[in-house]
Amino acid sequence: MPTTIALVGAGRVGQTLGRALRRRGYPIGAVVTRHLSTARAATRFIGAGQARGSVGAEVARGDTILVATSDRAIAQAAHALAGLEADWRKKVVLHTSGALSSHELIPLEELGAAVGSLHPLYPFPRPLRQLPRGVVFGIEGDRRAAKVARALVLALGGHPLELSAEEKPLYHAAAALVAGHLMTLVDLGTRLLAHAGVPPARARAALMPLVRETLESYARWGPQAWTGPLRRGDAETLWHHLVGLKALPRHYREVYVALARAAVALYRTDRGQATKELRRLLEM
Ligand SMILES: NC(=O)c1ccc[n+]([C@@H]2O[C@H](COP(=O)([O-])OP(=O)(O)OC[C@H]3O[C@@H](n4cnc5c(N)ncnc54)[C@H](OP(=O)(O)O)[C@@H]3O)[C@@H](O)[C@H]2O)c1
Repeated sequence: MPTTIALVGAGRVGQTLGRALRRRGYPIGAVVTRHLSTARAATRFIGAGQARGSVGAEVARGDTILVATSDRAIAQAAHALAGLEADWRKKVVLHTSGALSSHELIPLEELGAAVGSLHPLYPFPRPLRQLPRGVVFGIEGDRRAAKVARALVLALGGHPLELSAEEKPLYHAAAALVAGHLMTLVDLGTRLLAHAGVPPARARAALMPLVRETLESYARWGPQAWTGPLRRGDAETLWHHLVGLKALPRHYREVYVALARAAVALYRTDRGQATKELRRLLEM
């Protein structure tokens, strides 16, 4: 019999996971947000649950409580939960933050609850009606919490990735670097094309085949997929880029130079003349 899930926080992640778990047969209990209206909207999206505008006794009827509030509200939610009458030794509480660990749930751990975190390594710009299969979830926490988290991930068709509390900041830095900054990078490229005279409406679409093939190649071959003037040791082209970028707001050149330096440090480990010349231009 699947464990009953109560949700504290039901925005983009809470609604997506709540709906996906409901569709896999998990009973949904209380769905708590800060405003009854958003809780009601969330239960409609999930297709089940009792909407509540604050943490109350109904939450403690859930066997597993999923805290999907914003990061800064997790500790506050843990304190509110710890104030409820319940046998916490039978409960599992998991939050969905990537950056924070189960330490945020200490008041519940002290009452005997199993505590952990279950972070989908996936972007949610809005609640998703269908969670794709194959999403990786970072899992951290005590043994009992990690076991329940693993079972939930497998039920969701995902892949569990076990972490320690100490590993979470770097794990989340990786997620933020790729999810947030990859988009910023592609957007900067789109804007550069527009500066080069491509109509803005066409610029984004024009880059997409390049973006997709680059990612596909990286998925297949790793760093062997690296292409471009730095790989070829073409200092003259690099110089033209740097001169052209001077005409644009500073952050274009800063991003270009920072990423070029990282690429040279990572992939051009030789001490040849071409590498030296590239390094010299990037230090100017
Ligand atoms: N978005 C992503 O791409 C993503 C990906 C992976 C993990 N995460 C993590 O998942 C968590 C939730 O993120 P999100 O993007 O889903 O946030 P969100 O869309 O902003 O939703 C936050 C939810 O928490 C509720 N809430 C806030 N404070 C509360 C409190 N004290 N008590 C009860 N409910 C409270 C909000 O209620 P109201 O609507 O009433 O304000 C809202 O339902 C965060 O830890 C985040 O780091 C996010």
